[in-house]
Amino acid sequence: MKQERSISIQFAQFDAIEELPKEEQELLTKAVETSKTAYAPYSKFNVGAAVRLENGLIVTGSNQENAAYPSGLCAERVAMFAASANQPNKTMTTLAVYAKGITISEEQISPCGSCRQVMNEYEVKQNHEIKVLLMNSKGMIWVFQSTLDLLPFAFTSKALKKA
Ligand code: THU
Repeated sequence: MKQERSISIQFAQFDAIEELPKEEQELLTKAVETSKTAYAPYSKFNVGAAVRLENGLIVTGSNQENAAYPSGLCAERVAMFAASANQPNKTMTTLAVYAKGITISEEQISPCGSCRQVMNEYEVKQNHEIKVLLMNSKGMIWVFQSTLDLLPFAFTSKALKKA
């Protein structure tokens, strides 16, 4: 029998960084600073990301492009992979993302599907939600309590049969 089903996601919107707690302001500021290190000669779309770890450390990343386009990587994954490689097994509590560039619209930024998948992988691995903060060039901020709000029905290792 057909059943119409639906789900909803939650997020909060803020118009200015000052409305957020100090630690989140600091993380977003790091994402803004790191966007300046983007290597984005092709898209001219500069993205910065900053991950806060449970031990207070902040690990940053920016998008890195390549003449062979698919070889480049988004800021979010540069930051999360660096965090996992350098501070393995430290819980990632919050990820802040900021984008600015000459090709960017004034819409809110939105992480790509591959970055959402990677965010959720770490959330499942560490069994602790990762809060995601997105800020656009006009300073509008969206706050998601969990990566699942950005990737409902995420594919995870739980779907893989144990050998
Ligand atoms: N990009 C990111 O770094 N993060 C996003 O959330 C969206 C896209 C990068 C990838 C590429 O260098 C450029 O932005 C244009 O897609």
